[in-house]
Amino acid sequence: MSNTRFSTYLCFSFACCFCCSKAMPTKLNQEAVNDRPVIGILTQIVTDDVLKPFGRTFIPSSYVKFIESGGGRVMPIRLTLNTAEYKKIFENINGLLFIGGAADLETSDFARVAKIFYSLALKANNEGDFFPIWGTCMGMQLLTVLVAGENLLANTTAENIALPLNLTTEASSSRMFEGFPNKLMRALTQEPLTGNFHHYGLTLETFQENEKLRSFFSLLSTNVAENEVHFVSTIEGKRYPFYGVQWHPEVNRFQWNRKLNFPHSAHAVQLSSLLAEFFVNEGRRSLHQFDNPEEEASSLIYNNTPVYAGNFTGYEQLYFF
Ligand SMILES: *[C@@H]1O[C@H](CO)[C@@H](O)[C@H](O)[C@H]1NC(C)=O
Ligand SMILES: *[C@@H]1O[C@H](CO)[C@@H](O)[C@H](O)[C@H]1NC(C)=O
Ligand SMILES: *[C@@H]1O[C@H](CO)[C@@H](O)[C@H](O)[C@H]1NC(C)=O
Repeated sequence: MSNTRFSTYLCFSFACCFCCSKAMPTKLNQEAVNDRPVIGILTQIVTDDVLKPFGRTFIPSSYVKFIESGGGRVMPIRLTLNTAEYKKIFENINGLLFIGGAADLETSDFARVAKIFYSLALKANNEGDFFPIWGTCMGMQLLTVLVAGENLLANTTAENIALPLNLTTEASSSRMFEGFPNKLMRALTQEPLTGNFHHYGLTLETFQENEKLRSFFSLLSTNVAENEVHFVSTIEGKRYPFYGVQWHPEVNRFQWNRKLNFPHSAHAVQLSSLLAEFFVNEGRRSLHQFDNPEEEASSLIYNNTPVYAGNFTGYEQLYFF
């Protein structure tokens, strides 16, 4: 019996090595890989009165779990630091997630800090220092403001509705969807796998007419808003590892409020998992690191405890700062 188990184990480990070495493109083997990626998340300013007793800024746990589920760790980034301090943080982390919420995308502290990181990321990538950014909902809107240099958002209300994506032909050659099984790609266009909770967005027309946006991003999908305007729902940078979704991949696995249309089907969960892994894998390509393990440990969100919020918000848990 134990003999059988031993040979099974041997066989398995051989099979595994074999398929890994076959599946890994040679290029990746030659690139240095960082298997301890840390993704930064900017805190959001509390505006909702029910949250005020808990703190001045917060991060919903669902975004943190999204990164953790992809094999990464999260560093919360406060909005009160100076440019030199943000530069230092940039050298420590391996990617950024701009989350959803409600903030002025040009004048808020959130916008100020995002712009500092965006400029650092552009420069780093230009110099061959790979650094990915993912924007979800308002985070995607923020990316469009940063790239266009102006706020071009318009009413594209799709509030509390799950939708299939209207994928463009570019989606099939995208990096974001590259590893997706055909069955999931099909489901993505037919089943309501993407939760929408927004009033503003970028219209397809604005995207197509704006030279800066059109040359920077590939358009991977569109959707139709309540006012029948077609809006941009998924984009990825042509030359930069920057990604944006107007919808919320994290809710598929980590938010459960019954009044909100969070997709929880098996395909919805698979979509969320694959995107989390995709983005964290992008983070693996960044070799930034902390100066020492102590600094790393004290910077991570593991130092903070989330608060149960399922009985007074649409979120299950929130981190406050
Ligand atoms: C899908 O997008 C194309 C343009 O990219 C548009 O012509 C078509 O009407 C859209 N279909 C739906 C169902 O939104
Ligand atoms: C946006 O459009 C929707 C649907 O037409 C409308 O109900 C809503 O009041 C508009 N919102 C804003 C902020 O203009
Ligand atoms: C929510 O639940 C917590 C306990 O889990 C409780 O302390 C708190 O008062 C509740 N909040 C509301 C608004 O009901």
